[in-house]
Amino acid sequence: MAARSNEPSDSAMTTPSPSNIVQTRFKDAFAGTPRLFRAPGRINIIGEHVDYAGGKVMPAAIDFACWVAARPNGQNRLRVISDLGDGELPLDMFERHGDWRDYVAGMAFALRDAGHPVVGHDLAIASDVPMGAGVSSSAALEVAVGLALTGGAVTGKQLAVVAQAAENHYVGMACGIMDQFASACGVEGHALVLDCSSLHARPIAMPDTACFLIVDSGVKHRHTSGGYASRRADCETAAKALGVSLLAEIASVDALAGLSGNPLKRARHVVSEIARTSAAEQALATSDLAHLGQLLNQSHASLSSDMEVSTPEVDRLTAIAQATPGVYGARMMGGGFGGSIIALAAPSAAEAALDAILTTYAQDLGHRPGAFVVRAAAGAGEVL
Ligand code: GLA
Repeated sequence: MAARSNEPSDSAMTTPSPSNIVQTRFKDAFAGTPRLFRAPGRINIIGEHVDYAGGKVMPAAIDFACWVAARPNGQNRLRVISDLGDGELPLDMFERHGDWRDYVAGMAFALRDAGHPVVGHDLAIASDVPMGAGVSSSAALEVAVGLALTGGAVTGKQLAVVAQAAENHYVGMACGIMDQFASACGVEGHALVLDCSSLHARPIAMPDTACFLIVDSGVKHRHTSGGYASRRADCETAAKALGVSLLAEIASVDALAGLSGNPLKRARHVVSEIARTSAAEQALATSDLAHLGQLLNQSHASLSSDMEVSTPEVDRLTAIAQATPGVYGARMMGGGFGGSIIALAAPSAAEAALDAILTTYAQDLGHRPGAFVVRAAAGAGEVL
């Protein structure tokens, strides 16, 4: 699951696609003809660290995906061949391993918890969603496995809810719904404006004049360690002190006066970020890219100083991107503590801007990190 670099190489021309890899792997390891499913990673334009507070987010599925070739095996276990390892996962009792197996088996158990029958399957899995880069390789894996284990019977919002439960209860990461929803429900050429309280989503067309660049900081995150959970806990403390069940119910930062310390800072981020997301919805709809860029910059400042989920490397990379000609704005993306940044640029300026960002940042990092110009792709489904 390597990051795709923007630098062309000879081997990239001949590297088999994940869809070919899973079909070959399946044929080599198992019997019969499998069905093929794919689920994409995601970007998030704006609305960061607000999904678990019931706020509004603006993700899009991308054209990097996890692929699964699957066939029932008549046994009460999953037999898996994957990029990350092979294994047999019993379906009579969940066993936590602290690695990729928890996502695969966790999805089977979460489906059963939600009342969907799951039988044993042979699964071949491959993905080109960069791992630890903030583009939701784990949500892509959960959603693709969920489709495969139900033969495509559970889809869309329902699939996203089960995949979030798998991550919350079996992987042990207290994430919100955004990543799984974007992977399951993405619409080609569109971002989704998703209200995480009602789970109502509205596709919004990406203007031809805009494109998004993703640059990996090279700092790998891991959200099962404490930082993400403690931010979420601070938000819950703030909501409780304010007498609401979710911070999204607070309309203005003026209402936060009674808070102090970390709950105040986290709540100030959440309430202001939800307002920025509404403004961004308007800016994207009217193709006001200068304003959208400013909102991205403001989002980063708030994530860095109030939510405190950035790192020195990510702050530096973001500052480089923000200062690059042709870039309207940039910010860290995803849960934070490393991972990627997202930058908004005009398509005609994108490649030159990406090159300029990489050249400057590579001097700090010592090598050129993974980077790509992203396209809004369709959400998960069976590939016939
Ligand atoms: C991670 C989580 C999401 C969301 C983002 C931050 O990607 O999985 O649910 O909270 O962080 O916006």
